[in-house]
Amino acid sequence: MDKAGEAAAKEPRAGAPLDDAEPAAIEADDEAAASSSSSSSDDAGYESDLASRTSTSVCSSVRDYEFENNRRYHRFQEGRYQFPNDDLEQEREDMKHAMVVHLCDGKLHYAPLDSPQRILDVGTGTGIWAIDMGDEYPGAEITGIDLSPIQPQWVPPNVRFMVDDAEADWVIPPNSLDYIHIRHMTSSIRDWPALLSRAYKALKPGGWIELQDLQFQVKCDDGTVRADNKLQDFFQTMVRALEKFSVDLLAMRHNRQKVLDAGFVDVAETPFKVPIGVWPRDPKMKMIGLYNRSMMLDALYGVAVRPFTRGLGWTLEEVEVYLVDVRRDLMDASQHGYTPFHVVTGRKPG
Ligand SMILES: C[S@@+](CC[C@H](N)C(=O)[O-])C[C@H]1O[C@@H](n2cnc3c(N)ncnc32)[C@H](O)[C@@H]1O
Repeated sequence: MDKAGEAAAKEPRAGAPLDDAEPAAIEADDEAAASSSSSSSDDAGYESDLASRTSTSVCSSVRDYEFENNRRYHRFQEGRYQFPNDDLEQEREDMKHAMVVHLCDGKLHYAPLDSPQRILDVGTGTGIWAIDMGDEYPGAEITGIDLSPIQPQWVPPNVRFMVDDAEADWVIPPNSLDYIHIRHMTSSIRDWPALLSRAYKALKPGGWIELQDLQFQVKCDDGTVRADNKLQDFFQTMVRALEKFSVDLLAMRHNRQKVLDAGFVDVAETPFKVPIGVWPRDPKMKMIGLYNRSMMLDALYGVAVRPFTRGLGWTLEEVEVYLVDVRRDLMDASQHGYTPFHVVTGRKPG
């Protein structure tokens, strides 16, 4: 059997790199996989170090998917993340990446990095940020972890992806990472203090953490957003729905304080406004508003369907009917709404 066929025939080990180039890492036997993985790697111990305890067990579901209402979901740690991982959703995530990088004038990070060697991207999604970082820092090794194995196989040589649950215990060696990037994870994480404490432990003294998140509220500076704006209502409904899954969708409002509470110093917050739609006069902000509107329009059904049906008990018809008015207000350029976007950076003392 050729290497690709051999890889397909074996079950991948959760927490293992998702390329076929390291067959030892997809051995079905746990201990064998762990030892051969580290011995075959040119980066001894790194892959197995990053595997969380939960994910070191053999798990046939790593590359499996679940389907519900014609949308595809992750299977590993099933039910942990309420949004799809199919092509539609991946395209939307990549559009969101383009929007945020444009908003940030091309910057992939705000932490003042100085020749970083080891970088971790928590909840890497399509891996688009990790891949861009791999190009920008060829001397660094970037690892992206996610519940879904949706990242491409052909990536820069210094970028790797692993299926792992960021909310399970980490066995990354303490003081080993230079930088941890956590973006758009407010809709995912249930226990932020625990996650940030793991991140603190894993960073080297002097290492940086960065949190970037959209705040899912319609804000307005000129009074044009109506009190009954249905997009605002949609966000509030999503807050209630995700509460049923123990997730606080608006947790990002406290990112600065959370990072301080975890022990980081030199904590800085950079706030942005992301227009919803093409109402701004400034061409750059108009373009960003277009991205934001398109990204939300594409998102509405996919992000609503599971939380609203499973969490709030709505029927599919109720979701469809409800979204008609949400779409109308989203497209209404006479309402000058925006969503705040927060960047918070902090340094581990030392
Ligand atoms: C909104 S996407 C953000 C993707 C990426 N950070 C970005 O900014 O492009 C959230 C991602 O987090 C992943 N995720 C959610 N909970 C997770 C967990 N506990 N551990 C690892 N990944 C998780 C999801 O599978 C999804 O790909």
